[in-house]
Amino acid sequence: MAASIGRDTQSSIYRGGAVGRKPLVPASWDALEAAARASMSADAFAYVAGSAGREKTTDANAAAFDAWQIVPRMLRDVGSRDLSIDLFGRNYPSPVIAAPVGVLELAHPEADLGIARATAILGIPYVASNQASIALEETFAATPGASHWFQLYWSSSDDLVESLVGRAEKAGAEAIVITLDTHMLGWRPRDLDVAYLPFAHGLGIAQYTSDPVFRRLVADRIASTAPSSTPRINVTVLRTLLDMSRHYPGSFWSNLRSKEPRTAVDVFLEVFSRSSLTWKNLDFVRSRTKLPILLKGIQHPDDAELAIKHGADGIIVSNHGGRQLDRAIASLDALPAIVAKVNERVPVLFDSGIRSGSDILIALALGATAVLVGRPWVYGLAIGGTAGAEAVLRNLLAELDLNLGLSGNTRISDLTPDILDRVAR
Ligand SMILES: Cc1cc2nc3c(=O)[nH]c(=O)nc-3n(C[C@H](O)[C@H](O)[C@H](O)COP(=O)(O)O)c2cc1C
Repeated sequence: MAASIGRDTQSSIYRGGAVGRKPLVPASWDALEAAARASMSADAFAYVAGSAGREKTTDANAAAFDAWQIVPRMLRDVGSRDLSIDLFGRNYPSPVIAAPVGVLELAHPEADLGIARATAILGIPYVASNQASIALEETFAATPGASHWFQLYWSSSDDLVESLVGRAEKAGAEAIVITLDTHMLGWRPRDLDVAYLPFAHGLGIAQYTSDPVFRRLVADRIASTAPSSTPRINVTVLRTLLDMSRHYPGSFWSNLRSKEPRTAVDVFLEVFSRSSLTWKNLDFVRSRTKLPILLKGIQHPDDAELAIKHGADGIIVSNHGGRQLDRAIASLDALPAIVAKVNERVPVLFDSGIRSGSDILIALALGATAVLVGRPWVYGLAIGGTAGAEAVLRNLLAELDLNLGLSGNTRISDLTPDILDRVAR
């Protein structure tokens, strides 16, 4: 990364403007969201932008940032700044990670390859989602030398869990993120109102259809069930069958005649998640990988304590960007008590609601080691593929760099609660 990503990014935008070149992505949040909306189908935008219930958790995530203000200090020589952090024995050029996001083909055909390439350019870890549109082996291989992590949804099939973790480790993943908050899909009115779940169309299940254990489950199902009646064909059914056949590995025409793509969707909907999991189940993954394990979705300090007790190497304080439980605590409001409880035994990462460099600065000041960002780069991907996702992430890093200096600080370790003031709400 350049010595000052803030000044370099800013001057590249202004110099471009002087010769008539407009930035690829808007820097302001509202304009970014509007541009992404215009680039996506209505169903796709609803899936990405939407949250659970009345979206009060998402509102709370935003309001929690508004409760803090930064108190800048002057004349402290902030001419040279360093955004780098150390995490799991590796030095990263910035404290930003791309959050795992599923079904990226809804945003752009480059999908996971787009964000994998964008993050590789910036030295940001790419967390492959369990619900990716492209298998992890392909995205990791496309960005050799970059930092790759894998996010796991705990399936009802332990064999599948073992297979996915093994594949990720073999393909070079540096960490496993287990997402705990999605043992059932949240109640999402924007998707319910258009009756649209991408997985039911065969989208976002590439980690499964590329998996030998999952393929065996599908073959067993086909062998053991009586021939199902073909659904009555109408335009929607036809479109769904075409979608499923297009997304299943192998030739489109033989997929169209085969039961496999349809059965794969049925099997996926059954094995996707397991609500009966308890802390004891974590030993299963712990004993099957040497990689650091991070638990994503922690919001209570006692759960942070249990996570450490059960062998977690890191915690991600997250409420899934408000997509799971409505009227839940804002993730930022949960952060300080968790940081206090963890007391530096493992890194505490944070996500949900980050929209600007100042938001990153506040989360870091409240004790996060690094932050994950979700919707902002998905919007960039929707607008411009790899280049769009890269531009959004670069803007966030630029704003973070400038605001680090403008607040009177030069290193991420300078960011402590002392630089903040709490606003009475
Ligand atoms: C469209 C979409 C899909 C997501 N898919 C996943 C996923 O597959 N796995 C996961 O752990 N989190 C997933 N998340 C949650 C993100 O990892 C992250 O927690 C959240 O986006 C952070 O909030 P933000 O969007 O406000 O930055 C998804 C989020 C969005 C918006």
